[in-house]
Amino acid sequence: MKYRHAFHAGNFADVHKHVALLALLRALTRKDTGFLLLDTHAGRGLYDLGDADARKGNEAAGGIARLEAAQSGATPPVAAELADYLASVQQIRSERRERRSYPGSPLLGLHALRAQDRAVFIETQPSEHAALRAAVGKRATVECADGFLRLENWLPPRERRALVLIDPPYETTAADFRAVERALIETLRRLANAVIMIWYPIKHGRDTDQWLNRLALRWPKAAGGAATPCLVNELWIHPRDNRAGLNGSGLLIANPPYLIAEQMRAWLPQLHRVLDPTHAGGWLVRESLAVP
Ligand SMILES: C[S@@+](CC[C@H](N)C(=O)[O-])C[C@H]1O[C@@H](n2cnc3c(N)ncnc32)[C@H](O)[C@@H]1O
Repeated sequence: MKYRHAFHAGNFADVHKHVALLALLRALTRKDTGFLLLDTHAGRGLYDLGDADARKGNEAAGGIARLEAAQSGATPPVAAELADYLASVQQIRSERRERRSYPGSPLLGLHALRAQDRAVFIETQPSEHAALRAAVGKRATVECADGFLRLENWLPPRERRALVLIDPPYETTAADFRAVERALIETLRRLANAVIMIWYPIKHGRDTDQWLNRLALRWPKAAGGAATPCLVNELWIHPRDNRAGLNGSGLLIANPPYLIAEQMRAWLPQLHRVLDPTHAGGWLVRESLAVP
């Protein structure tokens, strides 16, 4: 595998995904009962934005750095979810005395968990796994394995509540899209109320829409026969049908907690305005899978 998340850490897609992750965790911690955070493609946990890999594409400049600059500018975005995310990144940096670092999903996740919650992080590359283990210490279970295969081992959890983050690299794009589909259906079969967040790349809008429409045909039913609730949200910084590369970032959320969609309709356009200053792209929030 060639994929190294260090090249992309803190880019626009990471910011979109991590703001949403934190918002979901805040919603889940509104109830006292504990839950399992299962991150199937966890990465190394903490990224040094000053190292050679991160500096190569300088992708954080178009992501976290842009949001930080806006926050201290004349007209900062006002959404509470964006402020919460920035404050969390700052706290993690200062706790670790790593000013130039960027926390990935495991560290942001642990930051939001309480004593009654549990975390399991899975990462397949030995070097990334070793770094992750060092970054999280004893606060979570960390496995060096295939996250798609290990889902079955951890679900359903004893808490009967879970947030499952599925964030593969899409290096072999079609295979990862198929694996994501299978993982999603299997997760809901094992725990019908699981909150699942899947990140997907928008390389060409038409391909993304075809995938969503195909998935809509297989989308599982919840108890009572109605379709499992879902929330599709996307942020793109280039025209959605550019042939350039990564045009945008998408999140498919199954069983979105109460008010998440409304909150997203407030913070996502604010985030988009900051991350796409030339207005080449756009954003959407939709509570149905099929493309209208
Ligand atoms: C996009 S990165 C994850 C970023 C992380 N979720 C975050 O938000 O900070 C994808 C990670 O999945 C790992 N990976 C690839 N295939 C995997 C698999 N089958 N199971 C578990 N991890 C895998 C890669 O090594 C890489 O570190």
